[in-house]
Amino acid sequence: MKVLSIVGARPQFVKEAAIQNVLKQSDDITEVLVHTGQHYDNNMSGVFFDVLSMKAPNYNLGISESLHGAMTGRMLIELEQVLITEDPDLVLLYGDTNSTTAGALAARKLKLQVAHVEAGLRQKKPKNIPEETNRIVTDHMSDYLFCPSQVAVGNLNKENIIDGVFFTGDVMYDIFLKMKPSFDYSIIDELNLTEEKYVLMTLHRDFNVDNKDVLTKIMKEISRIAQEIPVVYPLHPRTRKRIQEFGLDDLLSNLIITDPLNYLKLMGLTENCFKAITDSGGYQKETYFAGKRAAVLMPETGWVELINNNWNILAEPNDLYDFVYSDKPVPYENNIYGKGNASEEILHIIREVV
Ligand code: UD1
Repeated sequence: MKVLSIVGARPQFVKEAAIQNVLKQSDDITEVLVHTGQHYDNNMSGVFFDVLSMKAPNYNLGISESLHGAMTGRMLIELEQVLITEDPDLVLLYGDTNSTTAGALAARKLKLQVAHVEAGLRQKKPKNIPEETNRIVTDHMSDYLFCPSQVAVGNLNKENIIDGVFFTGDVMYDIFLKMKPSFDYSIIDELNLTEEKYVLMTLHRDFNVDNKDVLTKIMKEISRIAQEIPVVYPLHPRTRKRIQEFGLDDLLSNLIITDPLNYLKLMGLTENCFKAITDSGGYQKETYFAGKRAAVLMPETGWVELINNNWNILAEPNDLYDFVYSDKPVPYENNIYGKGNASEEILHIIREVV
């Protein structure tokens, strides 16, 4: 059987690494890997392939237009050619980026079978975020839907997607467990940090960083927190651009700013942080895997389990200070997103159904 995986953005490399890991142990399935090029900086892309020991993509389409229509459109055109050439038995898509949607459309139009890893997540607020559009479009075009949680299964059922839906657990937990012995803690010393005595943050969502007032408000609160505890912020290229454009560089002056970190360094830093602040879909779970609580800068999240059990909180900028300094211990609940064998489950299902 030939499977073709499409990736393009940072969180997808992590998910693909989990799948690749089990696929490479099976003789009966070959995998062709296509990188759309959506993320192209070495520290957003190449470095993930290195530290996660991933095979190099068979195709790199080099597409990184900044307008969503242009980006998705070019991906659609070029992916179609690759799919015609490769004619896979199954196209595997990951998560909720523009690369996911383009892959779903291209494959579907060629009547190829489509599977979505991390299917069924929904987030109605804020309205019209690109990731939600990508999730809905991809789920409705997929033949097989691999859900990381039971809530995701329920979300699909509510939209009348019943056939081909499987609860598998979260592949990001698989890779977390697999790579844990290799987490890189050297950066803690490099940045002169003390274990458990720093806050780690990530911020890149359009609704938080593309509006000057919103971004200013967030950065002012972070800067206030950083007066009392070091705050480490690996700066995403999108946010870096906006901070410069809006003239907010001063608000970075008391933060510890780094370039985007590779997976092993980010996880090493996360395992030893005090708390985290994030608007990333993936990172709000990785902090939980690492036993750390996160304030999620979103009005709603698809990862509702961690909100319902109070491990994470949905935060507005002015909730952040209290989240960091209020000390309410919360019990840790194990295995919310499966047992770390989601990729094996997915492979097993693929063998059965395709
Ligand atoms: C994308 C995904 C988002 C995911 C995030 C992870 C969509 C709609 N969004 O958002 O779901 O959480 O990736 O990081 O697909 N840029 C660089 N270098 C890079 C990558 C991007 O300079 O290596 C620039 C781009 O040129 C663009 C901006 O950063 O101007 C945003 O990149 P883009 O891929 O469009 O969206 P993200 O915000 O990264």
